[in-house]
Parts: sequence; C-alpha cells; structure tokens
Amino acid sequence: MGVEVAVEGLTKTFGSQNIWSDVTFTLPVGEVSALLGPSGTGKSVFLKSLIGLIRPERGSIVIDGTDILQCTQRELYEVRKMFGVLFQDGALFGSMDLYDNVAFPLREHTKKSESEVRQIVMEKMELVGLLGAENKLPGEISGGMRKRAGLARSLVLNPEILLCDEPDSGLDPVRTAYLSQLILDINAQIDCTVLIVTHNINMARTVPDNLGMLFRKHLVMFGPREVLLTSDEPVVGQFLNGRRLGPIGMSEEKDEATMAAEAAMAEAGHSDGSPDEDVRGVIPQIRPTPGMPVRQGELRRRERVRNLMDDLPEPARRAILDELREYEASQQAS
Ligand SMILES: Nc1ncnc2c1ncn2[C@@H]1O[C@H](COP(=O)(O)OP(=O)(O)O)[C@@H](O)[C@H]1O
Ligand SMILES: [Mg+2]
Repeated sequence: MGVEVAVEGLTKTFGSQNIWSDVTFTLPVGEVSALLGPSGTGKSVFLKSLIGLIRPERGSIVIDGTDILQCTQRELYEVRKMFGVLFQDGALFGSMDLYDNVAFPLREHTKKSESEVRQIVMEKMELVGLLGAENKLPGEISGGMRKRAGLARSLVLNPEILLCDEPDSGLDPVRTAYLSQLILDINAQIDCTVLIVTHNINMARTVPDNLGMLFRKHLVMFGPREVLLTSDEPVVGQFLNGRRLGPIGMSEEKDEATMAAEAAMAEAGHSDGSPDEDVRGVIPQIRPTPGMPVRQGELRRRERVRNLMDDLPEPARRAILDELREYEASQQAS
C-alpha cells in the first residue's frame, strides 16, 4: 500500500526568483493525483523537492511520517527508496540497453542475484509492453518506448510513491491514451500513491482521482477531480479548456489591459481557435483493464470523499453523488 505525502506551507526561491509559496496539500494514500499548471510554474521543481533533490526554504514535506526537510541524510536515503520516478524524457542511460537501464536500480540498491534481477526486469518489461526490446539502446527506439522503459525502471523497486513528470510529453494522442491506461493499471496492481505532472487536458480529465493546479506562484486548488472539473475558478476553467481567453497568458501572467483587449476581440466575434463549447464537466475516469485487481485507492477515495461531501461546492457534490449512485447500482447488480 502506498504512503501519504503531506506538504505544508512549502516555499521555494532561487536567488531572487520566488517559484511558489505556501503550497499545502496531501496526496492521499494509494490514490492517483495530478498537478497541472502552465509551463514554468515550478511543477518539476516541486517533484524534485519531494524526492529531496531540491530544498525548499520553508515548510514541511512529511512522507510516511518523516519530514524530509528535517531528517538526517540516512533517513532521506531510506525515504528516497520509496519513490519511483519517471522523468520527462525517461532519463535513460544512452550507452546501456533497456535491460541494463531497467536493472540499474536493482543492482545499485539491492543485493539481489542476477537471476532475481532478471526475473524482476522481465516482469516489469512485460508490464509496460516492452518484452523483446531488452537489447535495444535508448537511441534506437521511439519516444513512447523510452517513456515505457523509464516507467519500467521506476517500478523495479516496488515504489510506494510513483512520480511522473509530463508522461505525455512528446507522445501522440494514441500513445498517451495507452500510457494513461498503463498508469491506472499499475496503480491497481501495486496500490502506490501516484503524482502526475501534466498539461495534457485529456489526461487530467480522465486519469487522476484528485487534481491540483499551480498558478502565479501558488497552488490555486487541490481536491477531488470532480471539484476542479466543475470549478468556476477562471484559471482552472481556462486551463482545462485550453483557451486563450482568461488569466493565463503567453508569458504566464497576463496583464489587465491584455485581458480586456482579448475579451473585446471575443465580444466582436473574433475566434481564437479555442473550442466553442465548454469542455468542463466530469467525464468518466479510465477504469483499470478488465482482469486487473480492484483499485484499492479508488475504494479508499470513495470513503474519503463521502466524508468530505458537506464541504464541497454544489456541482462537485452532485457529480460525486451521481458516481456513488452508479457505483452502488453496479454493486447490487453484481
Ligand atoms: N536548479 C535551478 N536553479 C535555478 N532556477 C531553477 C532551477 N530549476 C528550475 N528553475 C527555475 O524554476 C522555474 C520553474 O521551472 P520548472 O519547475 O521546470 O517549471 P515547470 O516544470 O512547471 O515547467 C523556471 O523559471 C526555472 O528556470
Ligand atoms: Mg517541468
């Protein structure tokens, strides 16, 4: 079972550049969460902070009870072993074939024999659909295969927490759909806590149990997917719809004058190529592939959200109630 990651009052500054301030949220055990945000808002910096590669100045990051900003090097080392990380480009070693790349953490961090290593490597290669490609070099395969190899490598130590930095970047829509499915299947199989950083709208709407959004150096929101998918918050709506109209601009922050000018252009009938209809709203979440175990995170989330219900905005509450009714009906039918 995955572990909880509780972030509180986290603030990071590089020199005079503040990246984000006072970020507070908790990744629930074994659930899949996604962090959205325009480019440059510090999503990668945030992931690196979670694994102790970057050190925020203020706040706490409590992972399974240990505050990694206060603990010793030795404790940090132990906490790090709980993580599997899929970096943006797979971050494979170019001179090693896929087998050696995937075996690397096992050889580095465990005393397993080569035959044990082989068994684990082949199991993970199969999981990500790469059996038969063990002897290929990263340079000889497609971006999608590199991602999957990176994912296989992130899984060999049976992580309690899986971090994926823009798993969709550089992938076509079909490959992205496969990868989305794979992430939920993995969550079903190993019940790890997952955090995905992405700006892929479709992935954000169909994969995670929980969504958060970074904007203007703050965490705008974090909560059950239904809350963000039905939110009236302009930043969230603009992002999930991929529109030009709204507070997010080409250089992240848009000034009032630009916003007014764009609103006037839209009034006058100028089309900026954004979809006409509002694509907000809750669409069904991807289910694990038939034959996979039930997602324990999903079961835990159902209970958790039931208890949160009174504090949620009305549209989110309605969406959750609909989902609960459908679930209960399906339980009775089976
Ligand atoms: N090690 C570093 N030193 C100084 N500035 C950094 C460092 N890493 C990232 N930054 C800055 O932090 C900001 C956020 O970067 P990043 O986390 O990569 O954004 P995102 O992943 O959301 O696109 C950028 O302005 C970047 O230049
Ligand atoms: Mg990034």
